[in-house]
Amino acid sequence: NKKAFIFDLDGVIVDTAKYHFLAWQKIAAQLGIEFTPEHNEQLKGVSRVRSLDIILELGKIKASQEDKDKWLIQKNEDYLSYLVDMNQNEILPGVLPILEFIKEKNQLIALGSASKNARPILEKTGILNLFDAIVDGNDVTNAKPDPEVFLRAAHLLQSKNENSLVFEDSVAGIQAANSANMISIGIGDEKILHEAKYIFKDFTFIDEAFIESLIN
Ligand code: G6P
Ligand code: MG
Repeated sequence: NKKAFIFDLDGVIVDTAKYHFLAWQKIAAQLGIEFTPEHNEQLKGVSRVRSLDIILELGKIKASQEDKDKWLIQKNEDYLSYLVDMNQNEILPGVLPILEFIKEKNQLIALGSASKNARPILEKTGILNLFDAIVDGNDVTNAKPDPEVFLRAAHLLQSKNENSLVFEDSVAGIQAANSANMISIGIGDEKILHEAKYIFKDFTFIDEAFIESLIN
């Protein structure tokens, strides 16, 4: 009876959360909106379109669809410019050994990300082949905290929700995992991710014994 290990991408597997932040900050600055790292926590795990709406709400700005589309394109182009030279080095410390250990133990691995840029990132970092299923921003209609992305991943792996584990760095993602009745594992600050069942500062704090305890 295999377990399904579902990973978020940005801020969990790769260190791209900082690039999303920089790109959004540029848009916000352009619009004269103050946008801090604390504000940015609300954007983590959230779709591109919703992220822009949150920033506009922060600045109490009403914009036309045309302007919004323009900013969304600008944000993504700026974000992608940070990824041009992306390689294995962008994988966060401790992640690769854990992915490999899960494989070694014959368990299932899926991606559950809101990003539409997920596949090229997995390709550039050379880990695409470790995934048994990929669900990303191109596949879902409801953004986290809606559990759709994780439910689809578990479905593709033919795994029951209660046999699925979710690694997440965002509040929205932890809430999505919890509402799907999956085991939520927060990666980051325990003050922010306190709704998670388990919390680790980063993957260097996760050892093989912990993964084994989840399997058995
Ligand atoms: C992830 C990130 C968000 C990002 C979203 C959409 O959930 O945490 O910061 O906005 O994906 O990503 P995309 O690459 O499609 O703009
Ligand atoms: Mg994330």
